[in-house]
Amino acid sequence: MTHIDSIADSSALELTSLNPTTTVIHPKSDSAREWWRSAVIYQVYPRSFADSDGDGIGDIPGVTARLDHLVELGIDAVWLSPFYRSPQADAGYDVADYRDVDPLFGTLADFDELVAQAHSRGLRIIADLVPNHTSDDHEWFKAALAAGPGSPERARYLFREGKGENGELPPNNWKSIFGGPAWTRVNERTSPLAAADDVSDDQWYLHMFDTRQPDLDWEHPEVRAEFEEVLRFWLDRGVDGFRIDVAHGMVKAPGLPDWDGDVAMVEGTTEPAEDGSTGAGNSGPMFDQEGVHDIYRAWNMVLADYAGDRALVAEAWVEPLSRLARYVRSDEMHQAFNFSYLTTAWEAAALRNVVTASLHASDEVGAPTTWVLSNHDVIRHASRMGLTGAAVRPNGIGKNDPQPDAELGLRRARAASLQMLGLPGSAYLYQGEELGLPEHTDLDDDLRQDPAWWRSGYTEAGRDGCRVPLPWESDKPGLGFSPTGKTWLPQPDSYKECAADVQRATEGSTFSMYRDALAVRKSHDLGLGSLGWVEEFAGSATVLAFVNNDVLVLTNFGETPVALPADAQVLISSGPLTDGGVPQDTTVWVQL
Ligand code: NOJ
Repeated sequence: MTHIDSIADSSALELTSLNPTTTVIHPKSDSAREWWRSAVIYQVYPRSFADSDGDGIGDIPGVTARLDHLVELGIDAVWLSPFYRSPQADAGYDVADYRDVDPLFGTLADFDELVAQAHSRGLRIIADLVPNHTSDDHEWFKAALAAGPGSPERARYLFREGKGENGELPPNNWKSIFGGPAWTRVNERTSPLAAADDVSDDQWYLHMFDTRQPDLDWEHPEVRAEFEEVLRFWLDRGVDGFRIDVAHGMVKAPGLPDWDGDVAMVEGTTEPAEDGSTGAGNSGPMFDQEGVHDIYRAWNMVLADYAGDRALVAEAWVEPLSRLARYVRSDEMHQAFNFSYLTTAWEAAALRNVVTASLHASDEVGAPTTWVLSNHDVIRHASRMGLTGAAVRPNGIGKNDPQPDAELGLRRARAASLQMLGLPGSAYLYQGEELGLPEHTDLDDDLRQDPAWWRSGYTEAGRDGCRVPLPWESDKPGLGFSPTGKTWLPQPDSYKECAADVQRATEGSTFSMYRDALAVRKSHDLGLGSLGWVEEFAGSATVLAFVNNDVLVLTNFGETPVALPADAQVLISSGPLTDGGVPQDTTVWVQL
């Protein structure tokens, strides 16, 4: 704890009272205490978290071996990105068998052991379900290729005849989110599992992502029944919930009509409006169709059969927030990632708008708001926030692209994280952000594995830079990621000082800030708290200040320091305070 003894610069902006007047926009609620309403959930990307067998690719026993790091950090639950059997055409988001662990990551017994070890430490486990598409190596798709046009096997996917005189044109004009067309013609497949030499098989199939990720037809009853069984399979093994991949995409508009808009996973590069929307795309006939909600109502009932407040979280790139809130109505899912918040620029007014809109939209349906700054699909926020231009958010950063200012990025990232953790609701952390990890921005192009790299015609660096193996011990080969020192992607030099052992031993490190913040968040019950904007700064372009329970959270975006009252008791600060008070790009938590 730090006490500010002297506040020298009287010309600075000032917080005059330690009992500031606030406008409450989200009242505290004690009525519902399901764990997921306030949980801090940590995303583990298994191939890059920790490797136990020395092949340079992280695995499930690696996660189990490092659980104590997460306990020390103080999180409540772990979300595991996919570990299922998969040819890894999209790093496991291409599932060949939904009921088994890929040998790359271990075995079902390893998974059971992870769940047991996590539960014994009070940590919950969320699995990642990928229902929009399967791998082309899935039994259903292989059977569909073999059975040919018109077969019942094809009816589980979206096979269609082409347009044009000889069917040589795709059935519609949809684009893949990774670039290129969203349709592949069966007899033109070039993947290792190329169907047939049968040139007469000239149907096309839809894939909103890679050609190796065929979309399922969710109008088919067998598809619905199968996924309910898959949910039960993992619920029976003890998982506490599921993160649902592309939750807004499973149902397509009837007739698959043409659409000229852009589709994207990560959207919203413009200033958010008062309702939190950022003018993003994703409003086409392949997204956010009314029919998806029936699926979640059915899944809600599946989970309700199990004790322990199991939860569903939607990965739905949908705006505005009022539209996203429909996924978390009381009989559907429990949480939805708040990508409007993630995509908001580092600006006081824009953030105030999106926080207000988020809380209002979720309060409307009685759901908790979530907050997230990084994940395995976006540039790590310690680098993103160091890019010139407040709202710049490319898909990856390559060697020849403009490089981020690392120091500025980290300072802002710490301020942003501390602000986020002070908000009521549930927060998501992405592995390594607690170490202050930057993006790897000078990876050799020939090492890139994200299909977005080649599908975009090598114009988008893609997501490999945020997926680099974690640094654990600074003096070991591969920074302790693997017993052999191997890492499936090379780590940049900057990772050495971010290694967990260094971070743990350094006062004021990013790790210690996160750990302290999570402890205070818990002891002050901030996750279930209220939010009131401090009126003194209500219209400020440079200061964002709110009160949550008995804690004041204040971020200064401007050059002029913000003076705190002389007797202010600072609980945590994202960076050093000066005599003038809270400097630029710094967040403080003050005890009221
Ligand atoms: C969203 C996932 O987060 C991303 O990594 C994946 O590529 C797509 N969905 C397709 O499954």
